[in-house]
Amino acid sequence: MVKIRLMGEKDAAAVRQVDALAFWAWAKEVKGERASMFRRTLTNILICREKDPEGCFVAEREGQVIGFIFSRTWGGVGWFGTFALLPEYQGQGIGKRLMAASLGYLQREPGRLIGLETMGESPSNLGLYLRQGFWLRFPTLLMAKRLEGKPRADEDLPRWSLADLRSQGSWLKDLREATGQIYQGLDYSKEITSTAQHGLGETLILMREGKAVGMSVTWLTSGWEGWGEERASVQVLALHPRYTSEQTLYALLAATEGLAYAYGKKLVTLPVNGQQGWVVEQLLGRGYRVEGAALRMTWRGTADGLTAQRCADLSRWAG
Ligand SMILES: CC(C)(COP(=O)(O)OP(=O)(O)OC[C@H]1O[C@@H](n2cnc3c(N)ncnc32)[C@H](O)[C@@H]1OP(=O)(O)O)[C@@H](O)C(=O)NCCC(=O)NCCS
Repeated sequence: MVKIRLMGEKDAAAVRQVDALAFWAWAKEVKGERASMFRRTLTNILICREKDPEGCFVAEREGQVIGFIFSRTWGGVGWFGTFALLPEYQGQGIGKRLMAASLGYLQREPGRLIGLETMGESPSNLGLYLRQGFWLRFPTLLMAKRLEGKPRADEDLPRWSLADLRSQGSWLKDLREATGQIYQGLDYSKEITSTAQHGLGETLILMREGKAVGMSVTWLTSGWEGWGEERASVQVLALHPRYTSEQTLYALLAATEGLAYAYGKKLVTLPVNGQQGWVVEQLLGRGYRVEGAALRMTWRGTADGLTAQRCADLSRWAG
């Protein structure tokens, strides 16, 4: 008998093990025996859970955790992932039960846009999600730029970590208003506060006319053991549509690259959904290259996706 229940903090080590084994088995299918096993840090698992504790579940059999799913809500937008089962329990309907638990949580807020991102090289994942009622969207590109020398920044941006509580409070309010213009109710606050609370990196704020109109949340630490320390990874970068221009986007990017350089990082990575053709072009022009891609899918009937024309809303629906 397999039971689906809420994930607790005490499950973190078991979840971490299932994650490593499930994705290693998948990587071996794609790359053969040369595939390496990567482990998330225990902190990464705990932080993923902490962001939406009511939306993270495990599958348990005879007291052993054999599978798990994480959900993430950003106000009007929500998604699930990462999600995995021990290889010997795959293909028996347990994944669908975990998914149903997560979808139940994500649907608690009416009108929420619900989605996920998955690997294009996995026909069984694609089949699973399509059969469950997800629609394919534009892929999310994972882009990277190598830092050759000290980046030039024309504007010094305020840092979250140096601000007082009053400024932080008003920035959060302004930024909620800004991202709400990109998609109704979209709210990245928890990514900013969690990054600060756990010392994972820094949030840079772009101010215009006395208000916060854009930000970039960048991790300067890796969520993986023995991998990614040379990278500064932008988790979220967003701009108020009214203030979206080459000048404001470049100000955020240049400041982010400067931050990464100051921390001795060699690469800046960021995710951008292919629907935002304007940003993709700007990034290519600024020396970013495509490193990979993930397929984005949305739950039927929740929305058509993000449609703003000149839009800068960089994030990925995967954790
Ligand atoms: C993805 C994963 C969690 C799914 O869990 P699972 O228990 O194996 O999935 P289930 O058995 O519940 O469901 C599989 C469904 O996909 C369908 N499916 C599988 N391959 C398919 C294909 N190529 N085309 C169409 N449908 C397919 C199955 O038929 C089944 O649906 P059905 O029961 O309606 O027939 C699990 O396989 C896993 O851990 N994979 C490795 C890690 C991973 O890829 N995680 C997801 C990252 S986004």
